[in-house]
Amino acid sequence: MSEAEVPFGTGDSSFQAAGGLDGIRSLVDDFYRIMDESREAEIIRGMHPPDLKESRDKLTLFLSGWLGGPKLFAEKYGPIKIPMAHKHLAIGSNERDAWLLCMKKAIQNRPYSEAFADYLLAQLRIPADRVLQVSRDPGSD
Ligand code: HEM
Repeated sequence: MSEAEVPFGTGDSSFQAAGGLDGIRSLVDDFYRIMDESREAEIIRGMHPPDLKESRDKLTLFLSGWLGGPKLFAEKYGPIKIPMAHKHLAIGSNERDAWLLCMKKAIQNRPYSEAFADYLLAQLRIPADRVLQVSRDPGSD
């Protein structure tokens, strides 16, 4: 079936639309390159370790399972709950918006259909909002 016929979120259709593991890896590499280079993302970049190698690996493997593909994060690193994994960080709405902006730019650089690009960003906003709720909000809301 073509992409137009299978709703995203069914089976591994989102994983496939994202370009499988290689596509997700490219997306995440670009996401962290953009975070590293953009002034708006300086604060959230500073929350990460200086070397982003493990951050890239973790987000890539997590997104694989999250998009309906192989659950590679759990296999390598064990179980994870995204909001709790960020509880120690001070993430307010500015930090959430900076994260989503880096994702938006990285998604735009991928050869995705407009429908999938819009869907993916909208879906990522859901856990991003949950992260915001559990984090110690520095008062930017
Ligand atoms: C709301 C904005 C977000 C910010 C500012 C943010 C920031 C961060 C930071 C700074 C780390 C590294 C933590 C550390 O090394 O101690 C991290 C880890 C991680 N983030 Fe986020 N994040 C956000 C949202 C998300 C979302 C929406 C997802 C998934 C869809 C995600 C997935 C991950 C994963 C898988 C890790 C690795 C966790 C681990 O170390 O086991 N993040 N994030």
